[in-house]
Amino acid sequence: MKYELDNIYCVDCYEAIKDIPDKSIDLIITDPPYLIENTRAGGHNDFTEGGKKSIQHMNDELAEGRFTESVRGDVLFPELVRVMKAINLYVWCNGKQIPMYLDYFVKEQDCTFDILIWHKTNAMPLFNNKYLTDKEYCLYFRKGGYCAPQSYEDAKTVWDMPINATDKKRFNHCTIKPLSIIETLVRNSTTGGGTILDPFAGSGTTAVAAKNLGRHYIGFEIDEKWAMIARNRLNNTQADGQITFITM
Ligand SMILES: C[S@@+](CC[C@H](N)C(=O)[O-])C[C@H]1O[C@@H](n2cnc3c(N)ncnc32)[C@H](O)[C@@H]1O
Repeated sequence: MKYELDNIYCVDCYEAIKDIPDKSIDLIITDPPYLIENTRAGGHNDFTEGGKKSIQHMNDELAEGRFTESVRGDVLFPELVRVMKAINLYVWCNGKQIPMYLDYFVKEQDCTFDILIWHKTNAMPLFNNKYLTDKEYCLYFRKGGYCAPQSYEDAKTVWDMPINATDKKRFNHCTIKPLSIIETLVRNSTTGGGTILDPFAGSGTTAVAAKNLGRHYIGFEIDEKWAMIARNRLNNTQADGQITFITM
């Protein structure tokens, strides 16, 4: 295969995935760009510079980091299905993207699905004519894929957890996911030695979880900055998942 196991590649996943052989991947865990609307023009949030970060600042950060485009499902979804041994996919998304994923994976591919939720216990107190932004969705699609939680804790579908501010600061990635959640998914849906693909690797959380638990990984990330951070993170991760040293 063109891409070797246990590496992060700085590539465009829409092209790179074409070089992954059919039925070679046990599990995909991924966190594609979110289709986030920029609230700059007349947004209803009133959080201003008095806080740690303004909404404007966060919007700029998201746009600059290619997090605001949506995923190109017409190109990518058939490729995800092709490379998996059996459909076994966790994909993070926001509420607006849910119908698109259900249309393809449930209606077209006949998968079963679950909606897993990261409930952020310390979300910002913004509720002016709206509910709190206090959750993130992780959709799980499966058709023959392996899922065998070994404990009550691992079988939960809601994770109550604060925003992972320390990791965000340490790895400088504004949509980094909590490592403990991703490790749970890896444990539940692969056996030792399995291979996990993350086409939108960001700071490498999926790869670190795979490495910590003795699974193989392949990560694609289009931005060299994040690809470097992911590689450094992996190189400096001890077997116990602790980071020893980081260069940026
Ligand atoms: C939501 S972030 C993933 C964050 C990751 N879950 C983590 O914990 O660090 C999405 C990532 O996809 C990357 N990306 C966007 N378009 C891409 C593409 N066409 N190919 C590969 N990576 C892409 C972005 O640069 C960004 O780092």
